[in-house]
Amino acid sequence: MSKDKFKQHFANIIADAFQKCYPEKYEEIGHYQVFDPDFIYDNLEKPKDPKMGRFALPVFRFARLLSDKPQEIASKVAQAVDEGIAGNKKLVTVTAAGGFLNAKVDFNTLTMETLQDVLDKGKRYGTSTVGEGRTVLVEYSSVNIAKPFGIAHLRTTILGASLREIFKKLGYNVVGLNYLGDWGTQFGKLIVAYLKWGADISKDDPCLIDKLFELYVRFHAEAKQDELLDEKARVVFKKLENGDTDTTKLWKLFRSRSIEKFKRIYDRLGVEFDLIIGESDLNDKIEPIIERLEKAGLSRISEGALVVDLEDTQLPPCLLKKADGATLYATRDIVGAFWRFEKYQYDQSLYVVANSQSDHFKQVFGVISRLEETEHTPEDERLAPRLKHVDFGWVKFGDKTMSTRSGNVIPVEDVVNKAVSLVKQMIIEKNPNLKAIDKTAHMVGVGAVKFSQLSVKRLTDVNFDWDAVLSFEGETGPYLQYTHARLCSLERNYDKDIKSDIEVTLLAGEEEQRIVELLADFPEAIADAVRNYDPYFIATYLLRLAGAFNKFYQRKTPDGRIDKIISDDVTLTSARMALVTSVRTVIGEGLHLLGIQAPEEM
Ligand code: ARG
Repeated sequence: MSKDKFKQHFANIIADAFQKCYPEKYEEIGHYQVFDPDFIYDNLEKPKDPKMGRFALPVFRFARLLSDKPQEIASKVAQAVDEGIAGNKKLVTVTAAGGFLNAKVDFNTLTMETLQDVLDKGKRYGTSTVGEGRTVLVEYSSVNIAKPFGIAHLRTTILGASLREIFKKLGYNVVGLNYLGDWGTQFGKLIVAYLKWGADISKDDPCLIDKLFELYVRFHAEAKQDELLDEKARVVFKKLENGDTDTTKLWKLFRSRSIEKFKRIYDRLGVEFDLIIGESDLNDKIEPIIERLEKAGLSRISEGALVVDLEDTQLPPCLLKKADGATLYATRDIVGAFWRFEKYQYDQSLYVVANSQSDHFKQVFGVISRLEETEHTPEDERLAPRLKHVDFGWVKFGDKTMSTRSGNVIPVEDVVNKAVSLVKQMIIEKNPNLKAIDKTAHMVGVGAVKFSQLSVKRLTDVNFDWDAVLSFEGETGPYLQYTHARLCSLERNYDKDIKSDIEVTLLAGEEEQRIVELLADFPEAIADAVRNYDPYFIATYLLRLAGAFNKFYQRKTPDGRIDKIISDDVTLTSARMALVTSVRTVIGEGLHLLGIQAPEEM
């Protein structure tokens, strides 16, 4: 990760002070642990209360190592720094507080450097090169052909699209992949249902896909009574697997019409992919991998089916082929991991898929890992350690009025349409003179839906509640977008060049300092998001930044008037406007990393 300069400086002087305070231990241990600036850097935390300082080192963790009491350690080290034994004191001052060492950064320096950095780099602020030369595959969305694009696939779509942007920001070569569910026994069912009950559906019917899904639901209902149906479906899928012309033709029709429909939804959401493939694309790549597994002695026949045992992981055996020779979802994922590597030589391959599929991925990764062990693949060439299931929790809709057409699915399209139309009403009430109402309503409605998926940690369930999601004041997308628009309007009103050589001492107020600190935290928020594979860290960071700015914006002077940002005081105004532009830049770029557009007016 790109390192925070002040943090690094603090780490250096602290490691230095430790060396001075505990010379015997240093002699014994060497340049490790608390005597190593990198170790200190990694152990630094953010104090809960920002007033305590910018960084804190929990020294109680090292009490045993140093055979000393935490308070003693903190005060000795703080004193050493204070006496100037270690490093200069210009940038940071260090104080002991209980079992912690707290570091405060010189505000003028922090302000100067941070604003300069943001204003110089603009959108590129927070960009780094840590990922250079590394390839990350991010698989997301992966909807199923001939089924509605329901909210079950909303979160993966939004999460993955955001991760794609975040990894790009850090210089990775990113491949965003949509892996369509276009193969499997369900196509046998669908085709049987279509042939049986779909004679009157025209192939050009614009609602073909919706109607197909209705037939699919009917198939399941009728299969409960009619045992032969499932058997018929199995036979038809087998025909499809064997390349039967008529069956293939139908499957192709369903596939292409589904893709058309999905494309409309992706366009509306503003979600992009670098590659769209289907499970079916792997069909001709399966045999060589099965042969490898057989050769390695890992597979066996069980009741006619081909399986790989995974006893050591306490998982059930992984099924590779059914007794009739049909391959499975897991088979295709195993093969897919190798195929993706052949094509992209990835350093990491992420699967953004709901946590309900955790066991599936454990099995898939488990089989690959066993194969590589058995084949003695050199450690650094193995795929298994590069595969990561980026799992996430459920999305729950409390709203009963949401149309739940066909078989209990809530279509994403309906959710987006409803969000956009509700936002439009709100805009018409609040700002009827806005020029591009429809365009703005679209940006904000879609932004609201996206933010709802990203503003809780990925493993936490999302409770989708319309009022909470669309509020302009709560912790929402519209709130961030509104703050962004407010910042843009200040810039329009100011209408002069923004300079970074400002009088920084004029920004010494508590509100301004909080904003500066947060601006300086942006790279860390991005790093947290990458470390945890979770855009949540950027989402909550943006809420903090917007909150800090709005506090400043609404601040009153001692005599109770609003302390206006733009005033007759030219020097003061230009200092404050440097802050405004910096916040606008970071909120805009942060929203971009979440896949959310930032309107200039709303
Ligand atoms: N199409 C699958 C589903 O909707 C998700 C695919 C997830 N990705 C994967 N590589 N298995 O359940």
